[in-house]
Amino acid sequence: MLTERMEGKLNAQLNAEMYSGYLYLSMAAFYESIDMPGFASWMRVQRLEELTHALRFFDYVVDSGGRVRLSPIEAPPFEWDGALGAFEAALAHERRVTGLINDLVEVAEEEKDDASLEFLEWFVHEQEEEEETAEKVVGLIKAAGDSADELEKLDGELALRT
Ligand code: FEO
Repeated sequence: MLTERMEGKLNAQLNAEMYSGYLYLSMAAFYESIDMPGFASWMRVQRLEELTHALRFFDYVVDSGGRVRLSPIEAPPFEWDGALGAFEAALAHERRVTGLINDLVEVAEEEKDDASLEFLEWFVHEQEEEEETAEKVVGLIKAAGDSADELEKLDGELALRT
């Protein structure tokens, strides 16, 4: 059984994951606007992954006998400073999400909620991966520098993500 505080925090994280999806969809639109369809496709796949994260929170709250309460999803930005700027924003966002997950773990500890701690373990590992992936792509964009050929090659590689 979830405490009221834990239920509120889990619902807030559900919203944060929905926002992540919304943000990545906005980034997909941005990459389309600068003619980088591979980056856009990568962002669309990431948006779907965020939806699965949100649904994990949904299912966990329901399965724990709690009540899901959906709240408005904040509007994401829609303009970034080029291919690099958008991916740096994605990395900064994932670091923020890691902070949110760590806060949730702290609350679960305070509430002595072992089931939620076990549930959150998956997200702790997932956030490590999410940050690593974004860091890797940021590194690749930096390595490509101003070379249109290299950026196009990278765009083709990112298009392969399914
Ligand atoms: Fe749901 Fe990208 O963390």
